[in-house]
Amino acid sequence: MATKIQAVRGMNDILPEQAPLWERFEDSVRDWLRAYGYRNLRTPVLERTELFVRSIGAATDIVEKEMYTFTDALNDESLTLRPEGTASCVRAAVEHNLTYNGPQRLCYMGPMFRHERPQKGRYRQFHQVGVEALGFAEPALDAEHIVMCARLWRELGIQGVTLELNTLGSAASRTRYRQRLIKYLEKHREILAKDADAARRLHANPLRVLDSKNPELHGLIAQAPQLADDLDDASHKHFEAVQSLLNDTGVRFTLNPRLVRGLDYYNLTVFEWKTQRLGAQDTICAGGRYDGLFEQIGGKPAPACGFALGIERVLELMAPTETPRTDIALDVYIAHQGELAACFAFRAAEQLRDLGCSAALDNGKTSFTSQTKRAVASGARFVAFIGDGEVERKEMGLRPLRGSGQQQRQCTVEDAAKLIISGRE
Ligand code: HAM
Repeated sequence: MATKIQAVRGMNDILPEQAPLWERFEDSVRDWLRAYGYRNLRTPVLERTELFVRSIGAATDIVEKEMYTFTDALNDESLTLRPEGTASCVRAAVEHNLTYNGPQRLCYMGPMFRHERPQKGRYRQFHQVGVEALGFAEPALDAEHIVMCARLWRELGIQGVTLELNTLGSAASRTRYRQRLIKYLEKHREILAKDADAARRLHANPLRVLDSKNPELHGLIAQAPQLADDLDDASHKHFEAVQSLLNDTGVRFTLNPRLVRGLDYYNLTVFEWKTQRLGAQDTICAGGRYDGLFEQIGGKPAPACGFALGIERVLELMAPTETPRTDIALDVYIAHQGELAACFAFRAAEQLRDLGCSAALDNGKTSFTSQTKRAVASGARFVAFIGDGEVERKEMGLRPLRGSGQQQRQCTVEDAAKLIISGRE
């Protein structure tokens, strides 16, 4: 026998048993996005590598070591499987001039790819719902996104998530802060040397040092100068306005001055929603403002902000309390025996679908008893039997599979459809 071919490590199949939960989530998310006026944008999963290097930043974990990048030998181009959606969204907005007639509220849902070490809640192919507000400068948009998340958690019945909030200030205030931070870190090079990543980032990306999880750096990070001291008035005002809107709508948050995010495009507000129920992979949703990104990738300057949630992580929080939806149950499973019956059953199934019923056909190769067992296992509400007698009379034997009175009756396809539809809850 040939060896089995398995899925790529960290890339999961989503099996039919799991699908109802995903579908329930996706349905809720679509309603929720519509309620806030977000429109769907679908971009390719492959982009030119340059897009991510320029937007996410050359000295970030994602770009340095997590991207699936390869050369398309047919036209000698470096391509990358998207590790996130914001860069693609802004690329598409610039390419199609989407903000020409005014700001845009956009959203997307789909797979992202990062070559991280797989563990529970961290995968190499994972899925995000992303929300981006392009062309909006107002703090009300930062707040809208956070309030939106709070509503989604309520709608999905997710409890125990907390919100961390910070401001990264304007580009100018960050430059001032960067210099102060580099000076401070240079003074403590011997401590920094305990972490190769941090030491390497001293000049390339010093703010990321603050995000280090290495306990040997915790003391150094705790004593580090704070960005808040370098904030200009406009950044302060923006941040206060966001906080005040959150307070007005009753969304609780903690200020975390060390929250810097792993992608370089952010300025002003950044936030992360966390849970204690998922172990190390505790961030279920994150985002912030990225007013410089349009320009960085060759567009006209435009303010923007957004966030993305990790679907696998959110589902993990929904799973224990949510029962799969029942409205996707199959209406009728069609059992048949004999060649003529097989043709009749095939046509009858199409007719039932025309009349608004869902129907699945058995292959008709076994006894009615074992076909009935498969009908029960399929979760169908009815089983229909078609043998030679039924073909002659142009009928089917319809039997309910749920409830008490499971009596079989002979009826035409039209009558069967009526019965099936009238019995729906
Ligand atoms: P991010 O923080 O890199 O931000 O990812 C957002 C969320 O995606 C994370 O909070 C997490 O729930 C999920 N996630 C990330 N990596 C993995 C993984 N390997 N396995 C499972 N889930 C994962 C962004 O991607 C930004 N584009 C968010 C954004 C949108 N900012 C502005 N607009």
